[in-house]
Amino acid sequence: MINIVIFGAPGSGKGTQSDKLIEHYHLFHISTGDVLRDHMRRGTELGMVAKEYIDQGQLVPDDLIIDLLAQVLDENKENTTQGVIFDGYPRTIPQAEALEGMLAERGTQVDAVVGLEVPDEELIKRIVLRGEQSGRADDNEDTARKRIEVYYEQTSPLKAYYQEQGKYLAINGMGTIDGIFELIQHELDNI
Ligand code: AP5
Ligand code: MG
Repeated sequence: MINIVIFGAPGSGKGTQSDKLIEHYHLFHISTGDVLRDHMRRGTELGMVAKEYIDQGQLVPDDLIIDLLAQVLDENKENTTQGVIFDGYPRTIPQAEALEGMLAERGTQVDAVVGLEVPDEELIKRIVLRGEQSGRADDNEDTARKRIEVYYEQTSPLKAYYQEQGKYLAINGMGTIDGIFELIQHELDNI
């Protein structure tokens, strides 16, 4: 069993590399962004609240996200026995602490944090390009810049948090998708 956090700024390739990790390690994938977008599509109460934040490029409040993650983990007890890729979670220190608690209750832990490191201008380019087709209301240049600002303010402190635990694996997120995956695999094979 291996639990991996895939970490990085908006557009750094978390979803793309998660797909490769799922295929290779047969892990269960939880993207809090995907779960929230599903709630938005279904028009749930959570979806309606989340939309207000997501469309502004802001984080959804910790209490809502922590409850949501606990619910997804509970609903998928059988699917998570090989381990989980946490994509886009945690994004704040309280979220990381909550995750630690939830995993400890299950007798497990975060084993590695794969940090995709990509320059800001490339992030914007990728998000704007995807926005031409994605239909994501937050995939435009202004919101992308806001999301990146929020990343530096609220999420990037997690890098030091996991470095202190010796779990942070820095990955150069520039290059081909397969080339980046090879770097990730190499790092994970050495933990
Ligand atoms: P979320 O859905 O997590 O979005 P994000 O972090 O902003 O990042 P993206 O999903 O846009 O990018 P990604 O890193 O997955 O990259 P991808 O592989 O898609 O969150 C959305 C919102 O939900 C947040 O802003 C927040 O409001 C809320 N939220 C979610 N989780 C939360 C939490 N825990 N707490 C609070 N709020 C939360 O790649 C991007 C593009 O680049 C794609 O088009 C891809 O094809 C392309 N690409 C990928 N790799 C490469 C490459 N090597 N070269 C060129 N292009 C590439
Ligand atoms: Mg994503």
